[in-house]
Amino acid sequence: MATASPPKRIVVLTGAGISAESGLKTFRDNNGLWENHRVEDVATPEAFAANPGLVQRFYNARRSQLVEEAQPNQAHIDLAEFEKDYSGEFLLITQNVDDLHERAGSKNLLHMHGELLKVRCAKTDTIYDRTTPVYYEELCDCCGLPGKLRPHIVWFGEIPLYMDKIYQALERCDLFVSIGTSGNVYPAAGFQQIAQEYGAHTVELNLEASKGASRFDECIQGPATEIVGKFFKHLLATQS
Ligand code: APR
Repeated sequence: MATASPPKRIVVLTGAGISAESGLKTFRDNNGLWENHRVEDVATPEAFAANPGLVQRFYNARRSQLVEEAQPNQAHIDLAEFEKDYSGEFLLITQNVDDLHERAGSKNLLHMHGELLKVRCAKTDTIYDRTTPVYYEELCDCCGLPGKLRPHIVWFGEIPLYMDKIYQALERCDLFVSIGTSGNVYPAAGFQQIAQEYGAHTVELNLEASKGASRFDECIQGPATEIVGKFFKHLLATQS
């Protein structure tokens, strides 16, 4: 670690790489295909309008894999442990729609790209918890109409959630850590630059150098289950 004094406010951003060792596929490690689908066929409002059945089946499959198979891995657990033991301000921002951070015990967490275990009424914006498959003809509880329930996921072309809170935290933090994200998708890909401009030390923990790796003050490469715990345990040791 190269920070001069122990950080008082930390922002962590996670991406698909932190859940890879839990068996969940990342987005860009498979010839641009995500579970055999082009992203634009399943993760855009246009795709949902054109083929709601396909989109719901795609997310139903992701949801059942998450509920029935995936477990938090050591990296999720190490982050949650750090948050518990750390005495400063800590915010975890995730681009992931899985619930592995919360299952590991993370508390101050924002899902900027939505949540797979929630659905939303497109007419009233009411949000419902959901662990079972959604059928696109299904009647919605709030509006009573068919076809209105959609995955509570921020699709391409839609605005990510909690952006005001996120920008405030980025401007205040003195350490920014990016874990398991390729740096391809904005606005998240720009968070490092904002934090750095406001004076934070910035660190990337990733399997390989991401697109924006050269802009970080520090880069550590390896599988998340190995490098996340090491990094945060060392950081905690500098606090005491
Ligand atoms: N440990 C650490 N990093 C890993 C691991 C691992 N075990 N496995 C893969 N990675 C890294 C990859 O090297 C890659 O840089 O994780 C990154 C995953 O990148 P992406 O697949 O592009 O995922 P992400 O950056 O989260 O995508 C951002 O794009 O498709 C949209 O909305 C979706 O939230 C997603 C956003």
